[in-house]
Amino acid sequence: MAKQQSFDDYNIKREVLEAVKKYGKLPEDFRFDPEIFDLQKALGVDKTAKLLYDGKKDKRTILDKTISAPFQEIRRFGGSKEKSEIENEKNWYNKLIYGDNLQAIKYLLDNGYKEKVKLIYIDPPFATKSDFSKGEVKAYRDKLEGAEFIEFLRERLILMKELLHKDGSIYIHLDQKKGHYIKIIMDEIFGEWNYKNQIIWMKNSLGAKGSATAYPKNQDIIYFYSKNPSFTFNKQYFKQKHLIQHKDRKELLPNGIKIDEKGQYYWTAPKGDYTDESIKALDKKGLVEWSKKGTPRIKTILSREGDYLIRKRPVEDVWTDIEMIFRSSDINYDYPTQKPEKLLERIIKASSNENDIVLDAFTGSSTTCAVAEILKRKWIGIDAGKLAIYTSQKRILDIKNHKPFIVMNSGVYEIKDIDKQVKIDENLYNNFACDLFQVNRNKKESINGVDFSGKYGNNYVYVFSNKGKIFRQDLEKIEDKLEGKLKRVYVIISQNQDKVYANYLKIKNTEFYIHKIPYSLIVQFAIENKDSSLIINHLRKNYILKANRGNLKNADNENAPEIDKKALEKINKISQVKKKSDIETKFSNIAGFDFVNTFEIEIKEKIKEIKDGIEIKINKVKIGDKEGINNLAMILVDKDYNGKSFKVFNTFFADDDTEEDEEGKKIEIKGFVKTKKITIDKKGLGKEIGIIYLDDFGNELFKQFSLK
Ligand SMILES: C[S@@+](CC[C@H](N)C(=O)[O-])C[C@H]1O[C@@H](n2cnc3c(N)ncnc32)[C@H](O)[C@@H]1O
Repeated sequence: MAKQQSFDDYNIKREVLEAVKKYGKLPEDFRFDPEIFDLQKALGVDKTAKLLYDGKKDKRTILDKTISAPFQEIRRFGGSKEKSEIENEKNWYNKLIYGDNLQAIKYLLDNGYKEKVKLIYIDPPFATKSDFSKGEVKAYRDKLEGAEFIEFLRERLILMKELLHKDGSIYIHLDQKKGHYIKIIMDEIFGEWNYKNQIIWMKNSLGAKGSATAYPKNQDIIYFYSKNPSFTFNKQYFKQKHLIQHKDRKELLPNGIKIDEKGQYYWTAPKGDYTDESIKALDKKGLVEWSKKGTPRIKTILSREGDYLIRKRPVEDVWTDIEMIFRSSDINYDYPTQKPEKLLERIIKASSNENDIVLDAFTGSSTTCAVAEILKRKWIGIDAGKLAIYTSQKRILDIKNHKPFIVMNSGVYEIKDIDKQVKIDENLYNNFACDLFQVNRNKKESINGVDFSGKYGNNYVYVFSNKGKIFRQDLEKIEDKLEGKLKRVYVIISQNQDKVYANYLKIKNTEFYIHKIPYSLIVQFAIENKDSSLIINHLRKNYILKANRGNLKNADNENAPEIDKKALEKINKISQVKKKSDIETKFSNIAGFDFVNTFEIEIKEKIKEIKDGIEIKINKVKIGDKEGINNLAMILVDKDYNGKSFKVFNTFFADDDTEEDEEGKKIEIKGFVKTKKITIDKKGLGKEIGIIYLDDFGNELFKQFSLK
């Protein structure tokens, strides 16, 4: 900061220029950050190439004005069941974060992760498809084109650089259409001298990607930058195989390979940079071949595997030995754009060491996190899609002996441990819970000794006390007392009490819809502990403010505006993909207001056994006052639900119309909006299944069913 302010400071400038004159180089402090001290600018000859476009923000504005969206713990797998204490080196939890990475990165930055991340790999959506179909303005907003795409990434890259450790590196995976623009942006942010490689990953894809008038496209580009000239790098090698041919029962060695008197296969190369001393040392080991004229050539010994000679070669910047998912033996999580584990293995091994923190801010199915986990690195994955989060959750759970990890939402306040300090008034809490979900408190009633707090629509609402954990048995007790008198009961619990792990349960003939108040809201309530309506107003304003990215006045200000309608509209625009193929191109700007699930989702389905598995017919979908299956975005199914951790096996999209087969050919399929049903095959089908219905805005309804 001090350096930044002194950018124009005459004395500093003079000092630097003198140092340059005297020593011929810049003082250490100023050498490698062109944005902090730009020598060219100081000398009045700024010749750096820059990309110009509309809407390019100032770097300082991005660093200072980006809103950070605090994390809210949603689920925890392994480790202590208590909420994490302040994190430290020993008490680390890997993190899977649902939310817009811009705000999440800013939060990491403001909360102790500055310069802590050793390696960042990102694989953002490609923004290559335009969906400017007539009259579809909304869809246009979801996908960023041209300059908007560049600025979208630039903002995030500027913040990510701050997270990077001083020895850290960043890899950005792009296709060839936008790659070069981003290269210029990367040079601006990281400095051209920190550009290390343009890695070409030859994908060997089977589907021809070119038109008849051009060459088929077969590469992705990965830019590799370090934060500083000195950085962690472990040289990587790969095995190159050379086939030994046979002719007349004799072996024909591949071109350039010879065999020495000890029977060792070898290959030679010119001495290159080797000094006379190193040549002597190598010669002692028998690794130098001398020509008749006395010129040394360096020997590389090859090993033999059957009819192949294996040469260990350093990995160069064209990677041809890594196959795409569907052709390799990688586990396929059926996530569009899923990258091969081998690719990430190479990157993670090269640019980090055990226990280092690895971040993927566009984590998708979390190839990065899974490989980081296997290679004993710490990891953080961020994604704005619920499918990505559920796919990643399953993927990590599939790793034997995985380290503990937490699934978090980015966008809700959490004030640690405050609930231990503040006593919560039960009556106020009850009112607060009711008001939060708009329960009619005038309809209080006791039925068979069950005290309902009010009604929502025609059904009774039971609010559990804020003390202790709530298990399925607690609902069974209510059902017991009610003796089947009520068909549907709404239940409210606080999220930190949740041991039911579902938001829908049918016990005998009573349907329980369980609604959870985010932990952070409870905490907020505990702090305020005043009139609940005031608190709700405060929260609404506060959170909507966040959604609006700080355009309104400070919410803590007594004169802060009432709920801003425009901001609300913006929240409503957050959407989940409805087509599988959209995952490749969709960008998200998720705002931070989270009611885990409202009363609003109602779904009626019928499960039927069919020859090859089960069929689930969706008969009714009602979300708020909107009726119709087209309000759903996705259905996720765990075929063998263990009652605790949801592992997504099948995903169904609302509007899917095509699917790619193994050869990359498009086959026509139908989304569930058209078919009104989904079918799940027998393979791996257990006794219990879990279903998550996701609406357009990421609200979830979880249901569990027992199969006969
Ligand atoms: C190309 S995919 C990543 C695939 C991943 N490398 C893998 O191996 O599975 C890009 C991901 O970025 C996510 N995404 C898009 N905009 C985002 C944002 N603003 N914040 C976080 N994630 C975002 C998408 O949901 C998508 O999952």
